[in-house]
Amino acid sequence: MTPPSGTTQDNCNNNHDELQESLEQKHARLCKTITSFDQIDIGQRVPELPSDLQDIKSILITGGAGFIGSFLVRKLVVLYPEYHIYVVDKLDYCGSLHNLKSVSEFPNYTFIKGDITSSDFMAFVLKEKKIDVIFHLAAQTHVDNSFGDSFEFTKNNVMGTHVMLEAAKVHRVKRFIHVSTDEVYGEVVSRPDCREDSILQPTNPYSATKAAAECLVKAYHHSFNLPIMITRSNNVYGPYQYPEKITSKFICSLLRKGRCYIHGDGHNSRKYLYAGDVADALDVIFHRGEVGETYNIGSNFEISNLEFATRLIRIFGYKIEDHVEFVQDRAFNDKRYGVDCSKLEGLGWKPKMDFEGGLRKTIEWYKHRTVEWWGDISGALVPHPLKALPPPV
Ligand SMILES: NC(=O)c1ccc[n+]([C@@H]2O[C@H](COP(=O)([O-])OP(=O)(O)OC[C@H]3O[C@@H](n4cnc5c(N)ncnc54)[C@H](O)[C@@H]3O)[C@@H](O)[C@H]2O)c1
Repeated sequence: MTPPSGTTQDNCNNNHDELQESLEQKHARLCKTITSFDQIDIGQRVPELPSDLQDIKSILITGGAGFIGSFLVRKLVVLYPEYHIYVVDKLDYCGSLHNLKSVSEFPNYTFIKGDITSSDFMAFVLKEKKIDVIFHLAAQTHVDNSFGDSFEFTKNNVMGTHVMLEAAKVHRVKRFIHVSTDEVYGEVVSRPDCREDSILQPTNPYSATKAAAECLVKAYHHSFNLPIMITRSNNVYGPYQYPEKITSKFICSLLRKGRCYIHGDGHNSRKYLYAGDVADALDVIFHRGEVGETYNIGSNFEISNLEFATRLIRIFGYKIEDHVEFVQDRAFNDKRYGVDCSKLEGLGWKPKMDFEGGLRKTIEWYKHRTVEWWGDISGALVPHPLKALPPPV
């Protein structure tokens, strides 16, 4: 029976429309509170979204309170009000809710504190929040630590990924985007930059766990048809990063008038990509990439660790010899990595931030932060912040 006009049914629809409108208005109002510093990195939506993704409503980002994850969260929450973004993060030493403060009031954002290695918890989150898409970033990420307490890397990176895959399989998610690293290819010295089908030859415990996780991701695609995608990115830098990796650590040391500790002779080189460009790449891969495919994400800007320190010290206006100290090398230190990104460029992505601009933006950010973000960071600024395995009993 059709209810006469003005009845409960109509009121419900009207209320629903009003609620929808007020959520949209709230989103639009909060967008205006995003600083231009972040807004530039958030960038633009991917134009013309494919029709097969139109019914996507709920996206889960694991590790969203970390460095790269927080760039992705800010981007998706602000640019795509039609998606609800759920973040699961255990808030390890390198994650911070401060990274997500600018989006914490948005109606399409929810933070859930928890550990991806708990299968009951993840199954509950996926079912309860009706998750359609997973961006999986949560991991132990610091190579130096992996030479010490490497079991933590296997637990979080391999077991954690396995738990996520199993939950995704049971819950039938529509996309599982696994964020991996160029380090899985191993050192690239006398061979061309790696394409996505190059053999994986990881050389340190961190990259070995990332490669192992990728094997599981691919196995779930082949065995269970899980709609996966894999990304492999080179070194990422930018604001919002816990100061244990080269860029943020050198900047934080120099801001305290300290030194840049160079592992070995400093001739090892790395390519650098700004975190905003990585978030762009993940957005493009999700909306335009093909299921089952792997995409390298990288830049052409390459610099040795020593040149990098020198460049930074010059920006600070210090004397090079006063702020460089050579220390013992890592247990093993790959000379360089190299990825060929033509496949991703074919989807229409290219990096926007030049290195000099990205570096200055990063320095500007660290000038005003760290203590409120992560508390006392002095333990991270030492030459080798090695987390050792507990002694045998
Ligand atoms: N930073 C880089 O240069 C780089 C380069 C290539 C690939 N990656 C990959 O990108 C991803 C993100 O890296 P990042 O630099 O942002 O790392 P990060 O260390 O800044 O953040 C990792 C986040 O994961 C969370 N986390 C860790 N273990 C967890 C668990 N068991 N359960 C829930 N949350 C957990 C941490 O609390 C943290 O917030 C990683 O998978 C990393 O391997 C990073």
